[in-house]
Amino acid sequence: MQLFSRLFNKQNSDLKESLIDPNNIPAHIAIIMDGNGRWAKKRKLPKIIGHREGSSVLKKIVAHCDKLGVKYLTVYAFSTENWSRPKGEVEGLMSLLLEKLKNAETELGGEAVRIRVIGNVNGLSQDIQNEIKRVEKSTSKNEGIILNIAINYGGRDDIVHAAKELINDVEMGKINIEQITEEKFSEKLYTKGLPDPDLLIRTSGEKRLSNYLLWQLAYAEFWYTEALWPDFKAEHVEEAILEYQKRNRRYGGV
Ligand code: FPP
Repeated sequence: MQLFSRLFNKQNSDLKESLIDPNNIPAHIAIIMDGNGRWAKKRKLPKIIGHREGSSVLKKIVAHCDKLGVKYLTVYAFSTENWSRPKGEVEGLMSLLLEKLKNAETELGGEAVRIRVIGNVNGLSQDIQNEIKRVEKSTSKNEGIILNIAINYGGRDDIVHAAKELINDVEMGKINIEQITEEKFSEKLYTKGLPDPDLLIRTSGEKRLSNYLLWQLAYAEFWYTEALWPDFKAEHVEEAILEYQKRNRRYGGV
């Protein structure tokens, strides 16, 4: 029975993959990886085990997105609001992030994955900052998918930070106020150089933005699933892409 169900699921997944139009793959997918806590609670396990399981899932999803031809994947690992969680959980998450960054080449990405971090990196511990620098450098020449990990990231903080940088440029006489355009503003965001996400995925049934990429998600298609992040599978990504391909993106036009 188990074998049958495994075979069925595999065929089902192969079927979905074959239905995907390879010419209309979202170039950039953003993910809110939600539900680690509930996953752990259901199993009477400490919450950090849920986060740990979640980070293993991430590796599989990165590999699958790369295989499908997604160029950029941006995941929400720690928000500016997450500092208000219980001290033990924050410490657990920070040491998990440090550990995963130390082994990022094997534990988060594969050989071809480029890893970058977005967010207010200066607000993180020196150890984490050093690992970020190391891993960004060590994977910078890879040619596969770009994995952006949002750590100490908040959409409002991103916008305020960009505004301050622009004001600074004006004060220094580098640009005039009239020269400030949406493009110039985007170049000051933590995501500079990246195209805006085409698709946002949120797990665990929640339908909020939670201060994620507020500027960048202006025209993204939103897909959500009841699956908790540690239960999230390659098949879900395929489902999301298939749904994305059925939508008619009008960008405010007719
Ligand atoms: C939300 O679940 C998840 C987080 C706040 C952290 C996400 C972190 C990971 C997936 C692991 C680390 C990532 C990397 C890049 C190594 P929740 O705790 O809010 O879940 P709940 O709503 O069920 O309580």
